[in-house]
Amino acid sequence: MPFSDLFKPLSFLHGPEMRNRFMLAPLTNQQSELDGVASESDRDWTRQLSRGGYGLIQTCAATVEASGIAFERQLGIHSDVHLAGLTEMANSIREGGGLSAVQLHHAGHRADPRLGGIPSPASSRTLPGIKALTTEQVERIRDSFITAARRAERSGFDGVAIHGAFGWILSEFMSPLLNDRTDRYGGSIENRARLTIEVIEGIRRTCGHDFQIGWRLSIERYGLLLEELREITAAILDRELIDYLDLALWDSAQVVREGAFQGRTMLSVFTSLSRKGVRLGAAGKIMSAQRAAQVLDEGCDFVLIGRAGILRRDFPLQVMTDDQYESPRLPVTAQYLRTGGLSERFIDHMRGWPAFVHPASR
Ligand SMILES: Cc1cc2nc3c(=O)[nH]c(=O)nc-3n(C[C@H](O)[C@H](O)[C@H](O)COP(=O)(O)O)c2cc1C
Repeated sequence: MPFSDLFKPLSFLHGPEMRNRFMLAPLTNQQSELDGVASESDRDWTRQLSRGGYGLIQTCAATVEASGIAFERQLGIHSDVHLAGLTEMANSIREGGGLSAVQLHHAGHRADPRLGGIPSPASSRTLPGIKALTTEQVERIRDSFITAARRAERSGFDGVAIHGAFGWILSEFMSPLLNDRTDRYGGSIENRARLTIEVIEGIRRTCGHDFQIGWRLSIERYGLLLEELREITAAILDRELIDYLDLALWDSAQVVREGAFQGRTMLSVFTSLSRKGVRLGAAGKIMSAQRAAQVLDEGCDFVLIGRAGILRRDFPLQVMTDDQYESPRLPVTAQYLRTGGLSERFIDHMRGWPAFVHPASR
């Protein structure tokens, strides 16, 4: 596939097309106000990104319920109080020419009580002394995802990206290790996927025809089983329930180490599925123009840019002008990030990521 394909537009089942193949991955940065309202730093970061040439920009993980919080100063979308700040974010992305999506998140058993979170496990075995969510509580959380999507739509976002990765609630429910329920949300893989599917279907029913739905899936850890996840993904693609699937890998070149797909690249396990009108993208160490083009060559429709997008807000524009572009080498200094426009809170958050900020730099 020629390099120039990175700059071809991409249509979706719903809503407007993406002007190119670059999507900003969701990036938590802990710079919102304490109640989840978008801060001046959130708005500033969004403005910087909106000028960077992305086809679609996802927000960081945003809480669909106050009690589902995982990070201090996490962006919120669980109340109408959040609408004004979100509207400003959506407006600035649109003015820059990109599409926009809010990532919808609930931390499940990992909700942090120090921040007002209520740990909400799928199983009574996960956390000592904490009972599994009742069926009614699961339905309430499902409905909170749907209400939050409506808020994203009311704020002017083109869509939402449903966080089904990294052991947070939807991924937790998928896991046979973390979900031993006996109601309709547990047991078979169809039952364990029910919460995700009801969230998607509810959003489709409640929001307008053009509203876009992405779904983020990760495969590793938390007792998740690749074979099962592939099967449920095949059904979701076959039913065209979503506009795009975002494979959250830590390395897009990752090779499967065990099981039926051992020795194949993780990407190929999913690119080989029939995807009808659904678009497929992947994240994971896409740090150069060449790697971005390769990921399309390997069968993806678009790429998700994470850390390379923090290092330079305009990664797509860099790639457009230089087909040999490579991200700066890690670690970088705090001053480098500051000069680039990152807030002090964001820089502090990045100090927690391995080998990103030079430890001696202030
Ligand atoms: C600072 C930082 C914050 C992140 N926050 C989120 C998040 O809010 N939601 C999410 O699904 N993934 C999150 N991730 C994962 C990224 O979206 C991405 O999948 C991962 O970093 C791999 O891509 P990369 O190698 O291009 O960084 C985060 C990653 C980083 C580095």
